[in-house]
Formats: sequence, C-alpha cells, structure tokens
Amino acid sequence: MSEGLRSACVIGWPVKHSRSPLIHNYWIKRYGISAAYRREEVMPETFADFIATLAERGYVGANITLPHKEKALALSAPDDRARAVGAANTLWLEGGYLHSTNTDVEGFTANLDTSVPGWDAHPGEAVVLGAGGAARAVVCGLIARGFARIHVVNRTLGRAEALRACFGAGIHPTHWAAVPHLLTRASVLVNTTSLGMTGQPALDIDLAALHKDAMVADIVYMPLTTPLLIAARTRGLATADGLGMLLHQAVRGFVLWFGVRPEVTVELRALVEADLRT
Ligand code: ATR
Repeated sequence: MSEGLRSACVIGWPVKHSRSPLIHNYWIKRYGISAAYRREEVMPETFADFIATLAERGYVGANITLPHKEKALALSAPDDRARAVGAANTLWLEGGYLHSTNTDVEGFTANLDTSVPGWDAHPGEAVVLGAGGAARAVVCGLIARGFARIHVVNRTLGRAEALRACFGAGIHPTHWAAVPHLLTRASVLVNTTSLGMTGQPALDIDLAALHKDAMVADIVYMPLTTPLLIAARTRGLATADGLGMLLHQAVRGFVLWFGVRPEVTVELRALVEADLRT
C-alpha cells in the first residue's frame, strides 16, 4: 500500500454486477482523495478469512454484497441498525476492531427526503410489499421517521410475522389479498420485492385506492422506471426510485473510510444510469 493511500472494496460472489466501484471512484475523483476502491470476488468458504485479514490486505473497510451480508454481521461488531436488519453491508476498521452497519436504512430515508421532501411530515400508515432483507431496512427507516402502523405484505406470511417479532406490534403482517383495502389508508407504499425487476414476474397492483397525497417508492432499479412507478406517476403521485436508494446508501461507507461526506449529484446519477443501460 502506498503512503497515505486508503483503500476499500466491495466483497461479493459474484461481484461483477456491483455498481459500488463506479459510485465510489466517482467520489474519489471528485473530491481529489488519495484512495482506491476495488471489487473483490470472494467465495463463501474463504469469506471469514478474507475479512479477518482486511487490514493486511491494505483495506480500511468494505461494502458487502450477496451472499455474505449475514455472515459479515456475525463476524464483526455490528451497530443497532445492522443488528435490527439482520445483515451488514458496510464494514470499517476502527481501534483494531472490525465494525459493521447497514446503510440501506439511511439509503431509503435519504432518497425519500431528496425525492419527496416532507414525505414524513405526517407519518400515517405505510404498506411495505415484501419481507426480506430489504423490507427490514425499509421498516427500520419508517419506524425511525415515526410511522407507527406498518403493514408488511408477503406471500410467505411467516417472514412478515418475523418482522413483527423483531420490530414490535406496529408491524402488521398481511396477505396480498388485503392490499386494495390497505391502500385506502396508506400515505406511503414501498415495493421491496423482486417483482417488476427485469426478468421477474410483474408487480400487479392497482393504485386507484391510494390517496392523492400518498407516495410510492420502489427499491427495484432494473428497470430504472418500474411499471409500479409508471402507474404511480400516471396517477400524479410522488415517487422515489431504487437507483436513488442505491446511491444514497453508499454515502456512509465513504464517510467512514475516507472522512468526506460525498454528495449524490445529478452527474453521478447519470453515470450510473448510463452504466445500467449497458
Ligand atoms: P431481499 O433480501 O433483497 O429483500 P429476499 O429475501 O429474497 O430478498 O426477498 C424477496 C422478497 O420478494 C420476499 O418478500 C419474497 O416473498 P417470499 O418471502 O414469499 O418469498 C418476494 N417475492 C419474490 N418473488 C415473488 C413472487 N413471485 N411473488 C410474491 N412475492 C415474491
């Protein structure tokens, strides 16, 4: 490692698809920092050894992507967010310890703050579609912003019930059949399922019942404008897309590793959008 150069990486298996290098290297260049950010393809069998030797490999921290997020949590000192989500996506070395957090929570809320300012001014009821890791981060963010009644809709009800066990009685596990009725009362609707993603089944949902002041967010960013977002915009509803969440969740890692709070600029967004189209 050359003097003064700080390095971080994204660790995954596979890792080729990750847009994190594009995002962090854009910021490294923009802020003129002596730093490097790389991809590290690490298979599950060697993951524990890899992160135990992060410092020896010249890294001050890392992003973690599939399939290592749960293991990263278990092998590090997680903060409350990572523990609540049950997965870590960002690691950093501090005081000789490997710390971890989950930045999807602030990625979700910061994206909504930017896309729909005031979205949480009067937290009412929220409907979250899906009950996987992404749903946990979204629920965590909604609770932090004062949403006291969150309906978690999932095909496998047991996974939604697990969220209630984790996040408390404000979580209401629900079947898909109840969605039309729930939408009449919701101020926020968030899709965290893979439905609507390129190559996946469509998300078939009628937004007619949503109040005109309700907002709709999708965490899917392939395609960038999902059929759910198109339907919401057609109805004149405010929306937040998945790319915004991806960009905003990257901010905290950059701060932790390189000591600068980077800005999610229009230019960065265009760069990643162009890359997603290739
Ligand atoms: P992530 O960690 O990214 O949230 P995940 O844990 O695989 O990913 O969760 C995917 C979510 O999409 C789940 O809520 C899943 O529902 P189940 O828990 O019932 O599997 C949901 N999902 C995926 N494909 C679906 C489909 N065809 N119909 C309904 N829900 C689906």
